[in-house]
Amino acid sequence: MSKAKSSRDRRIAPPGVTRVTRSSINPQDSQRTKPTDSGLVNDLSLMSVSEQQALLAREGKSYQSPSTKSVLSSSSGTSMPREALGTIGRLMKLGRVQNIVVVAGAGISTASGIPDFRTPGTGLYANLAKYDIPYPEAIFNIDYFSDNPHPFFSLAKELYPGHHRPNYVHYFIRMLHQKGLLLRMYTQNIDGLEKLCGIPDDKLVEAHGSFATAACHLCYTPYPAEEAKQAIMNGNVPICTFCAGAVKPNVVFFGEDLPEKYFQHAEDFPKADLLMIMGTSLKIEPFASLINTVKSTVPRLLLNRDPVGPFERRPLRRGDYMELGDLSDSVRKLAEILGWHTEIQDLMNSHENGVCSYTDPSSSSGENSDSSETDSMH
Ligand code: OAD
Repeated sequence: MSKAKSSRDRRIAPPGVTRVTRSSINPQDSQRTKPTDSGLVNDLSLMSVSEQQALLAREGKSYQSPSTKSVLSSSSGTSMPREALGTIGRLMKLGRVQNIVVVAGAGISTASGIPDFRTPGTGLYANLAKYDIPYPEAIFNIDYFSDNPHPFFSLAKELYPGHHRPNYVHYFIRMLHQKGLLLRMYTQNIDGLEKLCGIPDDKLVEAHGSFATAACHLCYTPYPAEEAKQAIMNGNVPICTFCAGAVKPNVVFFGEDLPEKYFQHAEDFPKADLLMIMGTSLKIEPFASLINTVKSTVPRLLLNRDPVGPFERRPLRRGDYMELGDLSDSVRKLAEILGWHTEIQDLMNSHENGVCSYTDPSSSSGENSDSSETDSMH
């Protein structure tokens, strides 16, 4: 994982940490509606959490519960209930959409049995008492890890991919690829389910890293991922042979830089003609602000349980659509509108049963097909 990027692209330490390099809260998400570049992130990421909170209070930003489940903004600027999925489905069926960027978070994997982070009660951060850490996000904080890697390593035993399978939402995204419509998927997830369902490497940006590789957290010397995993599973700390620092999987911690591949966003987002935002609270920068970097004319569809980020504001930006509720239900409805539902189910069944019927036409080596399962983290 590359470590040599500017501080604006570092993940920011969560509340409770004095050195603030990034924010765990995305305060504005933006109050800005124009497409921007990652300079926006720069403006925001160096603010301390208390500064961000003060800013929120000053601007009187508060959450307004939507009165309807499916909402889009009208040209007159008032929000009104409309068939968000129907509208987006029609655009897709008319061929008006060819380059979809998907932005995803932990909500796409809850149907696979993996808790998200911030849902009260069930989210990971509400269930870390046994690790005896000063605040929940400390478990992914690089400075905290440096002092005490044990809480993360205990948790990592549970987080290592291998116990969960992709769900319908993952296969829907793979179907977007199969139909030639997926420009790129940007995921914050570290569960590896995107690769496991067959979304090829070149279509996927794992913005918060993964367990697939490992390195020293001090000198970044690579370390064999399988050996690191074995050590962690046996309750040992894998040690760097070069500097004797603790080795960790290349999951991006608060205070660390994002992988080189993440910076592909500068090319991808301006090319998008539809943005799908799925299962994320949009609370973590710089990732959250990516959604503001598509052109202002580009429709953005939020599929989530709650409105998040700029979708909390009223009126919505022209071209912003959201379908609130369970993601699997929403995605299934969209698939039905598109006439893809049976195809997705067949793909999912055959893939999950180990019958590989799909060969990616764009890949002569077939690397894009189900062979991705072989280099999964299982
Ligand atoms: P969060 O837990 O912050 O947000 C998940 C969002 O998905 C919430 O808005 C949920 O309401 C929604 N959600 C969950 N299940 C859903 C379902 N079945 N249907 C619809 N919506 C659902 O997770 P992320 O936004 O992914 O960093 O969190 C971002 C980052 O914060 C993570 O990458 C993680 C964490 O610190 C790490 O890499 C360790």
